[in-house]
Amino acid sequence: MRSMHCIEDLRKLAERRVPRMFYDYADSGSWTESTYRANSDDFGKIKLRQRVAVDMTNRTLATTMAGQRVAMPVAIAPTGLTGMQHADGEILAARAAEAFGIPFTLSTLSICSIEDIAAHTSAPFWMQLYVMKDRAFIERLIERARAAKCSALVLTLDLQILGQRHKDLRNGLSAPPKLTIKNIANMMTKPRWCMGMLGTRRRGFGNVIGHVSGVDDMGSLSAWTAQQFDPALSWSDVEWIKRRWGGKLILKGIMDAEDAKLAAQCGVDALIVSNHGGRQLDGAPSSISALPGIVEAVGKELEIHMDGGIRSGQDVIKALALGARGVYIGRPFLYGLGAGGQAGVARCLEIIRNELDITMAFCGHRDIRDVGRDILLPGTF
Ligand code: FNR
Repeated sequence: MRSMHCIEDLRKLAERRVPRMFYDYADSGSWTESTYRANSDDFGKIKLRQRVAVDMTNRTLATTMAGQRVAMPVAIAPTGLTGMQHADGEILAARAAEAFGIPFTLSTLSICSIEDIAAHTSAPFWMQLYVMKDRAFIERLIERARAAKCSALVLTLDLQILGQRHKDLRNGLSAPPKLTIKNIANMMTKPRWCMGMLGTRRRGFGNVIGHVSGVDDMGSLSAWTAQQFDPALSWSDVEWIKRRWGGKLILKGIMDAEDAKLAAQCGVDALIVSNHGGRQLDGAPSSISALPGIVEAVGKELEIHMDGGIRSGQDVIKALALGARGVYIGRPFLYGLGAGGQAGVARCLEIIRNELDITMAFCGHRDIRDVGRDILLPGTF
């Protein structure tokens, strides 16, 4: 992985190594993908102030996110089907995050289960929850997260219904993939991926199969998930989940200051400014452009995190300068995973850490907790 110098290098390698259906699943947004593109493009518009002749020795990136000590203010975002980018993908990514001292967030729709992650790591991880109609399933998932000693619950609010991704429809996305001639032909060009999959038994939705009655084959599972997301989700459900969980609660998918105020009234620990990586409402603003308004509305009351479009340490520092306590990365770690398994995720984190560290120094700071708007060029944000 030493020849990988930036996240784009990892992306290109992942594109070569991961079957088309799963690469496209990661590297796409909804409808015209305008929000997906804006997420990263808008970071480029913000300019940093270069400072010189300041002491750059003894730098630190350590801080806290939702009360948890982190080696740098970057967490792994929850992503569904991660175990399809690489065999046992969630376990490998969680291990890489643990080695780096940053939080790993497991998706409800992961391939490896909560129990798999707990068995293969020792640091507490975070669990992401989708609100399903089947409240008994949610109760069980919360209990399983508690038993696995998850240290925070990340409740995703922006997927009551699914945004359409054209590529997934064209590719007939399913996990494991259906063995059509087209899929077999494509997989035969990805021998590493195939060998990995043959070596694992984890190929279905690990948090669901065996935990929901009547779901034991992939056909009925996809029907189940499509039916299960709750379009009637309301703030009273958030309060119900908060009561049942009783631990640290982070709300994910807030893009509007009015919603941020309602989230603050629920007494949650943090919220994530996120448009789901441009996978839900196409036409929504980029996360980085929505961040300042939300920080202004509720930043004094609760911690603000953000995700969407982060592809470098420079992007991380811009988000921090605009008031985020920490950020999450989705596709960058998926590219790392597809490119090189655990070593690829570690390389992704290394790249971002080094870029963040050096950029902080160029901007005249030695402690990431001191970074504020003063590092940004006025008129560019
Ligand atoms: C996601 N995201 C997501 N979010 C969530 O709360 N639960 C999930 O299961 C998923 N699944 C998922 C799959 C894939 C392939 C992607 C790319 C994203 C959204 C994710 O947590 C995060 O918000 C975005 O990925 C952030 O944008 P970047 O970093 O990918 O640009």
